[in-house]
Amino acid sequence: MITNEVLNAIRGRRSILRFEPTPVSEEQLEAILEAGRWAPSFANSQPWTFVVVREEKIRRELGALVERIAFAHRGQFAVSGKGIGDAPVVIAVVVDPVKDPQHWVEAGAVATQNMALMAHSLGLASYWAGMGGKSEAEARRILGIPKGMRIAALLPIGRPAYAPKPGERAPLSQLVRYDRFEG
Ligand SMILES: Cc1cc2nc3c(=O)[nH]c(=O)nc-3n(C[C@H](O)[C@H](O)[C@H](O)COP(=O)(O)O)c2cc1C
Repeated sequence: MITNEVLNAIRGRRSILRFEPTPVSEEQLEAILEAGRWAPSFANSQPWTFVVVREEKIRRELGALVERIAFAHRGQFAVSGKGIGDAPVVIAVVVDPVKDPQHWVEAGAVATQNMALMAHSLGLASYWAGMGGKSEAEARRILGIPKGMRIAALLPIGRPAYAPKPGERAPLSQLVRYDRFEG
């Protein structure tokens, strides 16, 4: 199989729940946001706003929220005294359904994935926390999100505090069908 930098980054990115407080540089942050900016969207509607949270009080509040909804990867928590709130940056991916009534969910997702991959390629890690229901309501309040706009994801970013276990995915033979779904 062909492998290259893109495929290696896609395969190597892992969700990380414990971060070192080491700062993310302005340059790194700019590159991550640039990756989000270049995400595709329906009719190039670009319905997103990236809220960059660096103020400690706010990111720790968001970190506590993400800790509550993060059920995956719990087995890898063996780093004491560190948490999601230690991530020096959290990017909230906010989307405006008025700008893209049909595909705002996908727009938020693809921008988030671009940024997660860019962070990974820079030696940083992230944790994609999906929003909705009570968690989104709380994040909206913390961040002062205007009525009508939605939070697609919270993405804490920082230097990982542990080496994650290798990822797991179903094999292509289970995922791919050719020409028609059945028959
Ligand atoms: C749309 C979306 C929402 C997610 N929301 C949560 C969440 O609420 N809680 C959680 O534990 N993990 C969440 N995750 C992270 C997944 O658990 C994680 O991506 C998955 O287990 C695969 O692991 P990996 O990211 O290390 O490859 C979310 C991921 C995506 C793409």
